[in-house]
Amino acid sequence: MNIDISKAHPLRGEVTVPGDKSISHRAVMIGGLSSGTTRIHGFLKAADPLSTIACYRAMGIAIDVAESGINVHGKGKRGLNTSVKPLDAGNSGTTMRLLSGILCGQKFSSVITGDRFLLKRPMNRIIDPLKKMGADISATDNGTAPLSIRPSTNLHSIDYELPIASAQVKSAVLFAGLYAQGITRVIEFSPSRDHTERMLGLTVVMEGTKKIVSINGEMDLSAQEFSVPGDPSSAAYFIVAAVLVPGSELLIKNVGLNPTRTGYLDVLRHMGANITLLNQKTIGGEPIGDILVKHSLLKSDVTLEGNIIPNIIDEIPILAVAGAHSIGRFEVKDAKDLRTKETDRISALCSNLKKMGIWIDEFEDGFAFESKNELLPNEFESFHDHRIAMAFGIAALATDGTCAIHDAECVDISYPRFWETVQSLQQ
Ligand code: S3P
Repeated sequence: MNIDISKAHPLRGEVTVPGDKSISHRAVMIGGLSSGTTRIHGFLKAADPLSTIACYRAMGIAIDVAESGINVHGKGKRGLNTSVKPLDAGNSGTTMRLLSGILCGQKFSSVITGDRFLLKRPMNRIIDPLKKMGADISATDNGTAPLSIRPSTNLHSIDYELPIASAQVKSAVLFAGLYAQGITRVIEFSPSRDHTERMLGLTVVMEGTKKIVSINGEMDLSAQEFSVPGDPSSAAYFIVAAVLVPGSELLIKNVGLNPTRTGYLDVLRHMGANITLLNQKTIGGEPIGDILVKHSLLKSDVTLEGNIIPNIIDEIPILAVAGAHSIGRFEVKDAKDLRTKETDRISALCSNLKKMGIWIDEFEDGFAFESKNELLPNEFESFHDHRIAMAFGIAALATDGTCAIHDAECVDISYPRFWETVQSLQQ
């Protein structure tokens, strides 16, 4: 499906973005390992979290999906059963990597696979620590899925210093730690999103800038109620849209404001964006609030590097679009991991930004450009990556003329009604 998008009139009113993808996955995973029925409000009904539900159903967990919420009928930590077919994680790296940690602790064998994009993504980052814990897990010779996991007789705790700042790796080790003998510790030097430790109620100790998260293999889980806030990564598209389109004023309601996710708001404010947080509160252990955004002139040089990268890893595409429409130099470094996301996001961003008339330098771990006032409309590839499609959809709203986004249906991964929302804001 291709979508045409023309320069927008001022965007005004309110937007409610769908539920947080990271929290939705974890709520189902934790619910299915808990005794009793876990109720989830605000669950993201998009392709990725639905892949997690499908995997859990294949392992015998009953899950009711209704308009009002989701019920996961957990059977405790040992309640999963072998699946007759390979588990299918679809496009979802979070499903595959987190679930692998859980599967390593089971008394049955599993195979977990995914779509043609997921089958290219690196899995040694979870295989290495899981093997150190005594797990019996293997991949293809290239270190990619399908992954085969067999029961281990000796799953034991480890102290694991994360070699890359990744919440998926951290969470895979912590989930395996739920089944390991002893206390598993994950040591993090650059903070990544912390939903797993919050939702499991784990012990977290700071030693200077080092964060240590611990999980005891004897821990049992009981059913709870989860409220999933609006996804800050999805809110980012409309925040940037309102900043870029003259005359705009948007209120984005009920957005997750977990500090491990909101680095992009700091970056946009540094660039000159007028952003105000309202109605801040904490619900179910996660800070949330409304975000009021007014059109602003962005003018500031920006270099994104070091510790902020894991915090903004999913927002770099839309921040680059903001950079393209601002005045100044925009540079990203230390972000090599972008090359192994749903697509190679460094290459995808460079290719689409060039089509807008921007001269861009591409590096192994990032890119840099001087922004230009007169951006050209063009046809953009989504590269079948939801975040690239949405970022250039927003770029189009702020560009004179009409742009097209190819293979635009990939937004279903995290935001199925994205194009309808874009359209409704323009009326
Ligand atoms: C996620 C972690 C991040 C992020 C992904 C979701 C999670 O991946 O990019 O969209 O829910 O844990 P990495 O841990 O690989 O950085």
